[in-house]
Amino acid sequence: SDFPILKRTVYGKPFIYLDNAATTQLPFTVIQAVSELYKDYNANVHRSLHYLNRKTTALLEGTREKIQKFINASNPYEIIFTRGTTESINMVAHGFKEVFIEPGDEIVVTEMEHHSNLIPWQQICKSKKALLKIIPFDDNGNLVMDVYEGMLSKKTKIVAITHVSNVLGTLNPIKKIIDLAHIKDIPVLVDAAQSIRHKIVDVAHLDCDFLCFSGHKMMAPSGIGVLYGKKRWLEKIPPLSYGGGMIESSTLYDAQFKALPYKFEAGTYNTGGIIGLKAAITYLEDIGFENIQAYESALMDYLIERLSSIKGLKFVGTPSQRIGVVSFVIEDIPSDDIAIILDQMGIAVRSGHHCAIPLLKHYNLDSCVRVSPAFYNTKEEIDTLIEALIKTSNISKNKGLKS
Ligand code: ALA
Repeated sequence: SDFPILKRTVYGKPFIYLDNAATTQLPFTVIQAVSELYKDYNANVHRSLHYLNRKTTALLEGTREKIQKFINASNPYEIIFTRGTTESINMVAHGFKEVFIEPGDEIVVTEMEHHSNLIPWQQICKSKKALLKIIPFDDNGNLVMDVYEGMLSKKTKIVAITHVSNVLGTLNPIKKIIDLAHIKDIPVLVDAAQSIRHKIVDVAHLDCDFLCFSGHKMMAPSGIGVLYGKKRWLEKIPPLSYGGGMIESSTLYDAQFKALPYKFEAGTYNTGGIIGLKAAITYLEDIGFENIQAYESALMDYLIERLSSIKGLKFVGTPSQRIGVVSFVIEDIPSDDIAIILDQMGIAVRSGHHCAIPLLKHYNLDSCVRVSPAFYNTKEEIDTLIEALIKTSNISKNKGLKS
């Protein structure tokens, strides 16, 4: 009842939203916080000296501190506001390309990366004649850790890895991955897009060098994200964007940049997104992460048990530790057809390659269906999904449905 959008209907049917790995919905408190900003105190943060500006600036810097505490970072200046996970990763990739990557160097990623944590590194390797090393996963969707250990060498300049796969749901052994890299002084970037909402991210405990996530996957608006980086790395890499707000002094031919975090925050802030992110963290904290985890984990077990009963359904990955998502195909029914028929029944899921084409190729697939529940979903909604999937199978069989 906190989420206005969940009360709507779609095609006259109750709306069942099971696409939370793509984006989560916003509670009323977040919508209200953003709306109040634009109604009452909108200004261009860190620019002017008037009342509204001082208020929005204090709110923005307060959000930075809230995020610092939320992920347990040591300093607020290690929190950089970005447009989202993709931009955060590109910032680090760009910086490493400019400063650290030489021909013959190696960058380690996994076979299960979302395009946003694969393509930036792949393109750097192409342009710098470096080598992209890929940690494979087995058919269950677990990383082959022995191969990873053998991959790390003096040539390895960075390990960039997803915490939770957006297709398989695999919760990777991220602490072990980081510890192994650190033995050889290799920095590790963690793509936390799919894990941040589950509050399993503590940068002090993980000791990761970079962490990237988006607001829209944790009940905040889209267009706002965070790059966390250790000071010693952030100070060494150049910014991705240049412009207002990040300049300490300039001449026509040269410029000095501000200290962290502002060096990386050129241009006007997405103040609405930032205020929304603060309200979203407050909302999640008020419910309690332990409550959320217990509920979601029971719901996921129920979902998998019910899906297992569907004839012809094959899971894409059965990882030993799973969080947030489950993907599958159903024999002889194209995945897009399943998603379109479910949509007609008021149920939102995602089908397609999920921005992870190489991952799907592992299973010789071009497409699969993904269901990703959140704490606002119910067992009754899962039951409706299962009935709808059974109906979909029947429709397909009777009509010889093809894409
Ligand atoms: N990264 C989002 C997803 O996996 C869009 O669906």
